[in-house]
Amino acid sequence: MSEIQVEAGIKEVFSKYKGETKELIPILQATQETFGYLPEEAMKGIAQFIGVPESHVYGVATFYEQFYFTRRGKHEIKVCYGTACHVKGATRVVETFERELGICHGETTEDYEYSLERVACVGACALAPVVVVGKKVYGNVAPGKVKGILEKE
Ligand code: FES
Repeated sequence: MSEIQVEAGIKEVFSKYKGETKELIPILQATQETFGYLPEEAMKGIAQFIGVPESHVYGVATFYEQFYFTRRGKHEIKVCYGTACHVKGATRVVETFERELGICHGETTEDYEYSLERVACVGACALAPVVVVGKKVYGNVAPGKVKGILEKE
């Protein structure tokens, strides 16, 4: 993402806020909604806008798992790695996604189509192993179902 794109996007985000310190989290959320992650240039701008050190903005953003600092794929694949899913074969599911996408978990494909992550229990243990893509939940995911999921997404 170019600096100019970030500048334009962040101006648009700031136009909806007053620049008060208490607006930090909503501003971070709006920034991430705009870019899909929190670009470095945007973090600097946010610090200036609300008048706090950049380290404070990073401190808050890193505290919450919802924020990302690198660009994510259009489709975020989350493979549950909680106990129930792990016992039912989540490792093989992750490995199959890794093979199909040519990336490791925690990475994004070069074309920014897919990101792959292992996450803690998503609360659907009865359906283990579970994969979440965006708002869609796939249950009982055997490695053989991975290709089908990618084709649907
Ligand atoms: S352990 Fe995977 S949904 Fe609970």
